[in-house]
Amino acid sequence: MRVVLLGGPGAGKGTQAAFITGRYGIPQISTGDMLRAAIRSGSELGAGARILMDAGRLVPDEIIVGLVEERIAADDCANGFLLDGFPRTIPQAEVMRARGIRIDAVVEITVPDENVIERMGGRRVHPGSGRTYHARFNPPVTEGLDDVTGEPLVQRDDDRESTVRHRLEIYREQTAPIIEYYEQWEKDDPCSAPRVSRVDGLGMLDDVRERVFAALDPG
Ligand code: AP5
Repeated sequence: MRVVLLGGPGAGKGTQAAFITGRYGIPQISTGDMLRAAIRSGSELGAGARILMDAGRLVPDEIIVGLVEERIAADDCANGFLLDGFPRTIPQAEVMRARGIRIDAVVEITVPDENVIERMGGRRVHPGSGRTYHARFNPPVTEGLDDVTGEPLVQRDDDRESTVRHRLEIYREQTAPIIEYYEQWEKDDPCSAPRVSRVDGLGMLDDVRERVFAALDPG
């Protein structure tokens, strides 16, 4: 199964990605997590990405496409992968299509802006793995610590409300049109196009999970 998971900041992509990867036995490829790992490593790429990410802006297409192409060539992607946060612009989607990288399903998780702002204020992450919690909606067993490693959780630098609002704008301008791009492709050439679905991201985590699974396995 090759899946693209779309959705604005805080829509719950990372949270649902954990369920999807468990069900299908495929790796999660989060371009956001890859960039944060580059920042932590102190690389030149990470230094450049940090400035853009902290401002809520996108990292240039050519950098991201290179990272993803290298990652999906790895052995653990032989049976599929979950792309979380990629593609994020029409040019990124076009490059994938031009290179013949087949995708089975595209799922967009939708959540109203005000719920996103509330979610981001309480989000805590485990930097090493990208595991995501929420102080109220999805708390760790021990406050402030990752359930698996026991290491401290942190708040992301780009989760400030003003930055989140800017990320929401960028999503509407540059990423949401990708859904129409895939829908048009589905109309023009249903045999090669991915199946496109929109899923309501509001409600309990498990309810959203069932909606996502239903979109991936329409039966
Ligand atoms: P990235 O890390 O991909 O961030 P994002 O897409 O903005 O999404 P988030 O990780 O913020 O949210 P999410 O949807 O995963 O939500 P989560 O599950 O954590 O990208 C960051 C930056 O990197 C970008 O701004 C850009 O600069 C750069 N970048 C990355 N990819 C790029 C690309 N392809 N091209 C160019 N630049 C790129 O959930 C949020 C919170 O809500 C959590 O606390 C969670 O516990 C909680 N929650 C989840 N589900 C529910 C629910 N049902 N009810 C209540 N709370 C819930």
